[in-house]
Amino acid sequence: MRLGINIDHVATLRQARGTRYPDPVEAARLAENAGADSITVHLREDRRHIQERDVRLLRQVLQTRMNLEMAATPEIVKFACTILPENCCLVPERRQELTTEGGLQVLAQSAALAPVCAQLAEAGIQVSLFVDPQADQIEAAARLRVPAVELHTGRYAEAAEGPEQARELHRLCDAAQQAARLGMQVHAGHGLNYYNVLPVAAIPEIVELNIGHSIIARALMNGLPEAVHEMRRLIQQARAA
Ligand code: PXP
Repeated sequence: MRLGINIDHVATLRQARGTRYPDPVEAARLAENAGADSITVHLREDRRHIQERDVRLLRQVLQTRMNLEMAATPEIVKFACTILPENCCLVPERRQELTTEGGLQVLAQSAALAPVCAQLAEAGIQVSLFVDPQADQIEAAARLRVPAVELHTGRYAEAAEGPEQARELHRLCDAAQQAARLGMQVHAGHGLNYYNVLPVAAIPEIVELNIGHSIIARALMNGLPEAVHEMRRLIQQARAA
């Protein structure tokens, strides 16, 4: 099972103040050193977190794979074809949303997605489609001959513990089996955290998880004591001088 780390939220913190820190590029290298198999970034149309500069620098420094999440718009597709990440995950994008809210409507948008998938594939990029765990969407993805789908785990993550969560987990298992049967690699992600990841990680057909928010949040808390100590030491030094 591969673990891709989504570092968008490091950029969110930077953009909140317009500072140079924290730098997602530095975060990516730390994540790689700690065992990440790939680094995921979502270059959104509104550039609310990751910037083109980040993607360009990541391209130069990553030792693992870059998974570029993106909308299937001409501007971003053109950019992807200049950057040439190893992987692109096509996602739906709405400006007002807090985060990616649903999977791609692959069935309804096949005609528009087909040339985008072909263009990215021709550039040597492995394409995955971010889809809800729904049979018709997975069939539509297979018809587009993409090598991979990423199952949207958001509904599972948001479901109340108990029968509702079990139902969502079941949908993920079925979807993973179907996608694997149709010859696609199965990835999954969105909303996975330290409390809900185990049953998803146990689905044998899933070969890659992409996780961001919970890991960056955990890193913040784990690192806070050391960060306070460092500042205290500096202040004390000033007084001692
Ligand atoms: N996979 C996809 C396609 C996503 O859009 C996101 C969120 O950007 C993730 C995985 C990671 O989700 P989270 O930050 O909730 O772990």
